[in-house]
Amino acid sequence: MLSRRNPQLNKNGELIHLLSIEGLPRDIVTHILDTAARFVGVSDREVKKVPLLRGKSVFNLFFENSTRTRTTFEIAATRLSADVINLDIARSSASKGESLLDTIANLSAMAADLFVVRHSESGAPYLIAQHVAPHVHVINAGDGRHAHPTQGLLDMYTIRHYKKDFSNLTVAIVGDVLHSRVARSDIHGLTTLGCAEVRVVGPKTLVPADMAQMGVRVCHTLEEGIRGCDVIIMLRLQNERMSGALLPSSQEFFKSFGLTPEKLQLAKPDAIVMHPGPINRGVEIDSAVVDGRQSVILPQVTFGIAVRMAVMSIVTGTLRQAQGDRGGEEQA
Ligand code: CP
Repeated sequence: MLSRRNPQLNKNGELIHLLSIEGLPRDIVTHILDTAARFVGVSDREVKKVPLLRGKSVFNLFFENSTRTRTTFEIAATRLSADVINLDIARSSASKGESLLDTIANLSAMAADLFVVRHSESGAPYLIAQHVAPHVHVINAGDGRHAHPTQGLLDMYTIRHYKKDFSNLTVAIVGDVLHSRVARSDIHGLTTLGCAEVRVVGPKTLVPADMAQMGVRVCHTLEEGIRGCDVIIMLRLQNERMSGALLPSSQEFFKSFGLTPEKLQLAKPDAIVMHPGPINRGVEIDSAVVDGRQSVILPQVTFGIAVRMAVMSIVTGTLRQAQGDRGGEEQA
């Protein structure tokens, strides 16, 4: 049965779908990060597998393009011993007019246990979660501008890995916040975990009006935004989502908001630089910063596998079941 207050939780407060970080209790977020920490080592084993999703069928449904999220979900499901089906949306019957819910009904008839969904429409994973059978689970892999919860969680994992404690941190999220589902998920993650200060940095045309209500400080210059920061999360300029002239040009944007080695010196000397990818070198971030010593952009991708393993084993209940059966630690 779905909880009225939060469709991601069952009546016992257990996570059964992951649709958004917004509204997730702090102990659930922390449990996901702690579980991911136990899965990180699986990648270093000779046999990179644990049996938690053995016999389960995971359907990857990416209605929008993806490199990192789709691949790391596939790796994560494979490492959990699931059967993984990647639906080729371009060659699917969606192109003949089949509706999203009819597609889901037909895949459910093939005994799907878990749907991983990326869609350009905000709310599509919520709609699916409302229509699947109680034993079927849904993970949002990015919906429109709304949310990208597993990216937010892997970003929280990365920050915790390098900085340990959120309570003294200043984190700046820089760039095209208006079109970014990652920015929203990161803000919810950071505020849930008690981050001392979250700054949102960008030109007025690319920072939505509701940002201040989300408990963040809004800065309209890069210099103000990153001064003294511990963590800088750079965002891609999402030209494909822009309608109308929100910016003079990408060169102008880089001049004002592009992160260069010189500007990075305004942050703390041990500040880390993150980016969800894909990167536009020379548009929002200089190549020397991407490849520099403070960049943790590629570790973010690697941590994404363990975080997605954690989310899949938690929403399906298989981690809880394994822990109940025999202590769980042995399986992870
Ligand atoms: N970060 C992210 O969502 O990247 P992809 O679009 O490649 O999945």
